[in-house]
Amino acid sequence: MHRFTARGLAPACLAIAASFAASFACTAAAQGSGKIKVGFMLPYTGTYASLGNAIENGFRMYVQEQGGRLGGREIEYFKVDDESDPAKAPENASKLIKRDQVDVVVGTVHSGVQMGIVKVAKENNTLLIIPNAGVDEATGPLCGPNIFRSSFSNWQPGYAMGHVLAERGMKRVVTLTWKYAAGEQSVKGFKEAFEAKGGKVVKELSLPFPNVEFQALITEVASIKPDAVFVFFAGGGAVKFVKDWAAAGLKEKIPLYASGFLTDGTLEAQGAAAQGLETTLHYADGLANPRDQSFRLGYAKTYKLQPDVYAVQGYDAAQLLAAGASAVKGDMTRKAEVVKAMELTRVDSPRGSFTLSKAHNPVQDFYLRKVDGRENKVGGIAVKALADPARGCRI
Ligand code: BEZ
Repeated sequence: MHRFTARGLAPACLAIAASFAASFACTAAAQGSGKIKVGFMLPYTGTYASLGNAIENGFRMYVQEQGGRLGGREIEYFKVDDESDPAKAPENASKLIKRDQVDVVVGTVHSGVQMGIVKVAKENNTLLIIPNAGVDEATGPLCGPNIFRSSFSNWQPGYAMGHVLAERGMKRVVTLTWKYAAGEQSVKGFKEAFEAKGGKVVKELSLPFPNVEFQALITEVASIKPDAVFVFFAGGGAVKFVKDWAAAGLKEKIPLYASGFLTDGTLEAQGAAAQGLETTLHYADGLANPRDQSFRLGYAKTYKLQPDVYAVQGYDAAQLLAAGASAVKGDMTRKAEVVKAMELTRVDSPRGSFTLSKAHNPVQDFYLRKVDGRENKVGGIAVKALADPARGCRI
C-alpha cells in the first residue's frame, strides 16, 4: 500500500489562491503543465567529483536523446554540490526540495550523504532516484515508495567477489577499505559469500574517508601474507591506492581484488599499476550488447570522454524517471501512478536490461572484469541476476 500521495499545491500557489483565476493557474502548474524540475545533488568537488560529473552527463544525455522532454514535459535542472560531506546533507537536500521545489532529487554518490537525503526525501514525500550510493539501508530498513535506485547496494558487488574467490579456493583474505558505509557494507557482502563457502576473512583493515595515507596499512597486509586482499576504494582515492600498491612491490606477490569501483573511470590515471586487476561490477567494457554500443558512441561523441559505470547509472536514472513521467504524461503530482510505473518498468540499460526488486533496487548481473589497457574487459558473469536481500525493508 503506497503512502506516497500527492503533495498538492505549491506554497506560492496557496498564498495567492484567494482569486479564482490565480487558483486555476496554480492548479494547472501543480498538475504538470510546466517543466519537470530535476534536482542534482552530487559531488562536484573532492575525491568523488568525477563520479558526480559522469552521473550528470549520463542523465542529461538520455534526456537529450528524448528531445529534452520526459512525459512530454521539458526538464529544468537544479544543482547542489554535496561535497561528499554527510554533515551538510540535510541542508543541501532541503535546498532542492524546499527552496527549489524540485519534483525529483537525483543523488548521490557517497553513502553517508545518501542517508541524509533519504531522511529529507521521506519527510517531504519527494521522489528520490539514487544514481550511485550503495548504502544498504536505502533499499533495506529505510526503503520507501518514493525511494528508487538505478545503481547497486553496497552488499551486491562485494557478495559477487566473495563468491568468485571462494570458487577459486582462496582460504585467507584480508580486507581494506575506507571506514564508512560503502567500504564496511562491501566487506560484509564479501564476507557473507566468502565465508559461507569455507573462506575466512582474517583481518579487516580500514582508514577514515577520504584519507589516502595507505602506506602503513599496505605494510600490515604484507606482514599477514594472506592468499588475497579485497578492497573498496573509488574515485581519486582508488587511483592513489592502486599506484601505492604497485609501488610497494605487492602487485606480483599478493593478489588484489575489489569491487569494480577501484578501476572504473580511473584507468587513464592508474596506467601500468592497474593492469591485470580483477574486479566485480554490474558494468564492464566489451559487453556484446547493441544498447551499450550505441550508448558508448553517443557518450564519446557528446562529451569527448569514454563512459564509465557512473555515466551508465545516471543514464538509467533518467530512464527510470522517464518510465514514471510517461505514465502520467508529465503530471508528476500523480505520485502513486509515477511510482507504480517505475516499479514495473524493465530498464533497457547499457549494462544489460534489469528490473527492480520490491525494495526498488536493481536485480542485475555482476560481471567479472579484468583490466587490459584502458578497459575493464568482461570475462564472464560472476553472479547472475543478483538481488540484494533487502533486509528490514517493508514496503
Ligand atoms: C558509496 O559511498 O556508496 C560509493 C562511493 C563511490 C563508489 C561506490 C559507492
